Amino acid sequence: MSSSSTPIDRRTALGLVGGAGALVALTACGGGNGGSSTSTTASSVVKAGTAVVPEGMPQLEAEVRDLHLRLVAAPATAEIVAGTPTDVLSFGAEVIDGDPASVTPSGSYLGPTLHVRTGQRVQVIFENQLSQETIVHWHGLTVPQEQDGQPLEAVGPGETYEYDFTVVNEPGTYWYHPHPHHLTGEQVYRGLAGLLIVHGDEPETTLPHGARDLGFVLQDRTIGADGQLVYVASNHDVMAGFVGETLVTNGVAGLATSVERAPYRLRFLNGANSRTQILTLSTGEPLQVVATDGGLLPEVANVPGLVLTPAQRSDLWIDFSSYEPGQQIDLLTAGTFVEVPGMMGGGGKGNGGMGRGGIGGGAALTLNPKVAMSFVVADGPAEPGEVPQGLAGQVTIEPSEAVNTDTPRVFELMTRQASHWINGMQWEGRTAAEWETVAFGTTEIWEFVNLSPMAHPMHLHGKAFRVVDRSWVNASGEESWAQISSGIVETGTRDTVLVWPGQRVRIAVSFDTYRGYFLYHCHILEHEDGGMMRNFLIT
Ligand code: C2O
Ligand code: CU
Ligand code: CU
Repeated sequence: MSSSSTPIDRRTALGLVGGAGALVALTACGGGNGGSSTSTTASSVVKAGTAVVPEGMPQLEAEVRDLHLRLVAAPATAEIVAGTPTDVLSFGAEVIDGDPASVTPSGSYLGPTLHVRTGQRVQVIFENQLSQETIVHWHGLTVPQEQDGQPLEAVGPGETYEYDFTVVNEPGTYWYHPHPHHLTGEQVYRGLAGLLIVHGDEPETTLPHGARDLGFVLQDRTIGADGQLVYVASNHDVMAGFVGETLVTNGVAGLATSVERAPYRLRFLNGANSRTQILTLSTGEPLQVVATDGGLLPEVANVPGLVLTPAQRSDLWIDFSSYEPGQQIDLLTAGTFVEVPGMMGGGGKGNGGMGRGGIGGGAALTLNPKVAMSFVVADGPAEPGEVPQGLAGQVTIEPSEAVNTDTPRVFELMTRQASHWINGMQWEGRTAAEWETVAFGTTEIWEFVNLSPMAHPMHLHGKAFRVVDRSWVNASGEESWAQISSGIVETGTRDTVLVWPGQRVRIAVSFDTYRGYFLYHCHILEHEDGGMMRNFLIT
């Protein structure tokens, strides 16, 4: 644990430099102590001070009206490490019609945060200005097949894709990222991702909102001596999942955020390609979780550390009022990494010093927390608050109503031939086997059985689900699981679930919104790109 009183000496510079045209530059106006000015020139560099303040949630219009956006994916330059220009890919967005507050800048290579509303009609004209094909997926949103940004919808360089859908999700923390087959991992890694916040009609008034409701994207990057991003240097990186050496939060290394002496809602997305992270605070205080992938929890969950797999989101309630002005509180993250000893060669490489423990012999994980970002308490009077006890989050999926409680659908996750498989199958385009075909209007129990030596965070498109239970089919991961299980929060709904080696995880999922083909896959992006992705068909 690092000291909580270290003065901040990290200076972060951020912003996008040239290359992307006015649209992306338009979004690169974030950060800055006290807010720096918006620049629309393509060559601007926005320098942040010692503390970067994410903007928090905007004040949206009282009336929900349709939203029409232009979204562009294009090359850009960003400072991930201060003073080092790095080539990236970045989303830019602008409001063509609708609430102008619907797009807020990230201040980094990340795409702007998009703010949509439950019940809102959203149209997006997406332009691919990359040199390869791409498509945008709205991770966690329940939308029709052709609005879902699936690999078969990918458009080539210079082409556009038009989306038109209605937001049916609960308010909560979602995100958007590319989904072209074989290219998702690299495109996300090079910068294509952003937060997507679904707002209700009114602020969730029992929770902090506005400037006290902040979003954070946790990622990791390896930056070479030439300042450029390094991606999958070896077959091992493809097999195991790429793990970057430097922790990067909201697109910058060493992020320090100024906070007032008051309660905050802090929304965390694990946007890393493959690093499952365990979050703790340098104060050692437990974390109070108020929301997960599918929205608010029924009640606050208290955990000593919080496990977040790639693609998962959890919102924390943290009260900074008891800290002194100037005090620094670090958010620490430990990576978990499990694999059978001998399967992948020597340990340590590419994992940035994070724990990597073999599990085959029952060896324990080595959890080795590093600072992902810091909060610095501002001057001012303390305004203590109480965490709301009932959060009104509802979990309406009833496992007992499943049509297959006695005969759950089984998906075996396996590793062989240096690749990862689902029931012995891999991606083969828009097809679904009989064992992947479900009836519209039903609720089912699905079982992910992990016979592989690696952990897999399994994601379903379409709808958040409920995690019913876990059991063991073999003991390979039991000991390492015991070290992290207290950090699992599954009292609400998730769209991505961690399936540990040797584990059988049962989920209950309802197929009640749209018919069609939807993806399910491992959200370790190198596994997904390697074929650990299939469709299920709702007929
Ligand atoms: Cu974020 Cu198909 O996933
Ligand atoms: Cu998704
Ligand atoms: Cu996987």
